[in-house]
Amino acid sequence: TVEQMEQRIKAIKARLGSRLFLPAHHYQKDEVVQFADATGDSLQLARLAEQMNEAEFIVFCGVHFMAETADMLTRDDQLVILPDMRAGCSMADMADIDQTEIAWEELTDTFGDSIVPITYVNSTAAIKAFVGKHGGATVTSSNAHDIVRWALEAGERILFLPDQHLGRNTAYDLGVPLEAMAVWDPLRERLVYEGDIEDVRVILWKGHCSVHEKFNVAQIEALRKNDPERRIIVHPECTFDVVQAADEAGSTSYIIDQIEASAPGTKWAVGTEMNLVNRLAATHPELDIISLNPYMCPCLTMNRIDLPHLLWALESLETDPVNLIRVDSETTKWATLALERMLAR
Ligand code: 13P
Ligand code: SF4
Repeated sequence: TVEQMEQRIKAIKARLGSRLFLPAHHYQKDEVVQFADATGDSLQLARLAEQMNEAEFIVFCGVHFMAETADMLTRDDQLVILPDMRAGCSMADMADIDQTEIAWEELTDTFGDSIVPITYVNSTAAIKAFVGKHGGATVTSSNAHDIVRWALEAGERILFLPDQHLGRNTAYDLGVPLEAMAVWDPLRERLVYEGDIEDVRVILWKGHCSVHEKFNVAQIEALRKNDPERRIIVHPECTFDVVQAADEAGSTSYIIDQIEASAPGTKWAVGTEMNLVNRLAATHPELDIISLNPYMCPCLTMNRIDLPHLLWALESLETDPVNLIRVDSETTKWATLALERMLAR
């Protein structure tokens, strides 16, 4: 039963004490979050990984790229475990290293060498290593403005992987006009742009988050008409039109902070992952919080981590740990450079 599984998890946690650290992303299910030693957005979890000095086992409740990052930012003798290996990220899977090498060759042929590659942390360790090797940095949705500003000053152009929406929304906020942005289509291996190629400053990888793409302007218009007092806040993985039409946009932590700082009775419509929206609504009965998408948007891969998988992973720790996430040392060396350029800022 659920109660029995919960009891077994509690017992393992008590037995292992500080040998175990269990971080969870805000999009994780409540049944998992209740056991988390810390919750956070991607940036907070990456920073935490740097401080997990004591823990022998890090059972990462999030998706694969987050566990890879934790492995790269921790010592070799610390084991990082992902309770379900199927917890990937469809956005991270939209940029593979071979496609990136092809794009880089083509883009440097067209524009010359002064391109700074930037990757959202929602990418594989191999992509982070590519970026580190070519002088670039990682970003998260919390610090994208700072890092993209730095990159735009450091080079003539930037290549932003793999989320076109975060890249477009961030560059636009920093004053780059849409005409100065082109999209690299990795499947057709070509650059798509409308203006003059000489004006291109930002090259966006054609990737997206399948959860955040489900919010649209029609939902915003319907709310504006029927419920005009409701404030609309969305994540910058949403499309440009949605971000422009919303009242506010920001990372997961920004969304939480804005909602938690609002006056009792404030009405919110939130454009981000369902588990977080539901948790905010449940923990803030004094506010009126709904999802911007009436059909809700779960991240199916985040949801793969559930009570049975968590228990199974925890029970393996003292005998033969399952689902170890290990990034090879060469990839780690270069990817860490990209991560450290971000974390130093
Ligand atoms: P943040 O945690 O940076 O807000 O990113 C959201 C997300 O989609 C994580 O996969
Ligand atoms: Fe990936 Fe989107 Fe899920 Fe985040 S919410 S893990 S970006 S698919």
